[in-house]
Amino acid sequence: MKTFAAISLFIFTGIFTALFFGFDLSEAAEPLEYDDEQEGLEDEVVIKFSHVVAENTPKGKAARKFASLVQERSNGEIKVEVYSNGTLYNDQNEYTALKNGHIQMIAPATSKLTERFPKWQVLDLPYAFPTYEAVRQAYEGEIGTTLLNDLEEDDVKGMTFWYNGYKQVTSNKQPLTVPADFNRTHFRIMPSPVIESQFQALGASTSKLPFNKTYTNLEVDFIDGQENTPSNVYSKKLFEKQKYMTISNHGYLGYVVLMNQAFWKDLSEEHQTIVLEAISETTNWVRRHSIEMNDAYLRQMKREDSIEVHYLTSEQKELWKQTFEPVYEEAEHIVGNRLMEELYELQEQYE
Ligand code: LMR
Repeated sequence: MKTFAAISLFIFTGIFTALFFGFDLSEAAEPLEYDDEQEGLEDEVVIKFSHVVAENTPKGKAARKFASLVQERSNGEIKVEVYSNGTLYNDQNEYTALKNGHIQMIAPATSKLTERFPKWQVLDLPYAFPTYEAVRQAYEGEIGTTLLNDLEEDDVKGMTFWYNGYKQVTSNKQPLTVPADFNRTHFRIMPSPVIESQFQALGASTSKLPFNKTYTNLEVDFIDGQENTPSNVYSKKLFEKQKYMTISNHGYLGYVVLMNQAFWKDLSEEHQTIVLEAISETTNWVRRHSIEMNDAYLRQMKREDSIEVHYLTSEQKELWKQTFEPVYEEAEHIVGNRLMEELYELQEQYE
């Protein structure tokens, strides 16, 4: 009986407490803590930006700068994920990945667009741009605008051009100062017919190879040499496999910054403005800083004695230029009169 009374009292107290004070829902009932990361998650815009060079190069640094400007100015609403060194896509598949929307931004060397858009070869012509200012004029003027407009055919948005620097030739066979030095030498090139013709004119043979395969192909002696900027030669350790570098300044390596067109159109007007302003600020930054970055890498290679550096005399440079005349004749048919005239007018300003 006592036991029955005790159990009844226990049950009654339980029911009474539950009814009076409510079930203990304190944890669930407490307002959820505000988590701004979670709240924005659905609205967050992610830009995957893939490129093939090292971080510590003009393009690598420009991509990072662009990413932080966009992130900061959009208060984190736009996140730019930068994938360097070809870790996500390499230079053979990044353009297709961009078009398919697997990534939203890339910045390939302009030479890498020449097979798809032959007119782009105008930028690869040897000794096309006598000064950095001439490069800027080409990118920002009629030449650049015409080339960027071409991209609409592919539903790709050409945002701007970014700067690296003048290409220099390297070799492990002999110093390259006169055209005859190129005889029976095999070079890695980017996939651009004009670059191929340039080396043919010098008497060399070529293989079109991806940037990230250059080191290994030098290592196994499949190629004897290549052309690139000091920042790319140093950051990819190409100098380890090359004995000689000639400061030839014969071609300019620059980039076109591309965005997936559908992605661009989907951005709100406010986000488009943020992206455009960040791009333009980064373009100005990389135009100024790419020069000093390449100079610093060249000084570093000289200091380390890692590669024997040669400079062309003005007579040697003249000889190179004469050798390249047939390359121009060939290009005129591909590039078309309008762009060639623009280029010649630009060159005249520096004569
Ligand atoms: C190369 O392929 O040599 C360069 O275009 C790499 C780069 O993007 O600078």
